[in-house]
Amino acid sequence: MINVLFVCLGNICRSPAAEGIFIKLVKDNNLEHLIKVDSAGTSGYHTGQESDIRMRKTAARKGYKLLSRSRQFTVHDFRNFDFILAMDESNYSDILKLDLNNKFKDKVFLVTDFSTNYTGQDVPDPYYGGEEGFYTVIKILEESCIGFLDYLKLKL
Ligand code: 4NP
Repeated sequence: MINVLFVCLGNICRSPAAEGIFIKLVKDNNLEHLIKVDSAGTSGYHTGQESDIRMRKTAARKGYKLLSRSRQFTVHDFRNFDFILAMDESNYSDILKLDLNNKFKDKVFLVTDFSTNYTGQDVPDPYYGGEEGFYTVIKILEESCIGFLDYLKLKL
């Protein structure tokens, strides 16, 4: 089993979208028995909440159902997951700040590291912006998730 965790700040917009997109991709490839998917936020601001309604609506228009509830990233996630994929550089460095003994750096990536067109770029935080930002999130994540699954397939 490969365990994958997507991480953003609030775990109500970008990482739940990544989780929903990747779950669908895994299902469409008949790989549910091999890949488990979850998401978390570096902050606990929205713990227990459903994904942001704007993110859910935009995702639904693109065919993705977002069902997760917000939870905060914890140090236990370093052991429980094989791949920890951050949405932006700030999430990435906040995650690594919790890796006190520098043991888990090899598991932590920027989600766009697996993208072709957005390599190394942040998935922009859509929370304080307009509707377009939510479509941008989906567009970058769809492409990055396809790249990531292609990468995982080489390991299965
Ligand atoms: P996310 O978006 O990190 O993609 O879930 C945000 C959600 C909430 C806040 C910031 C970003 N906030 O400041 O409450």
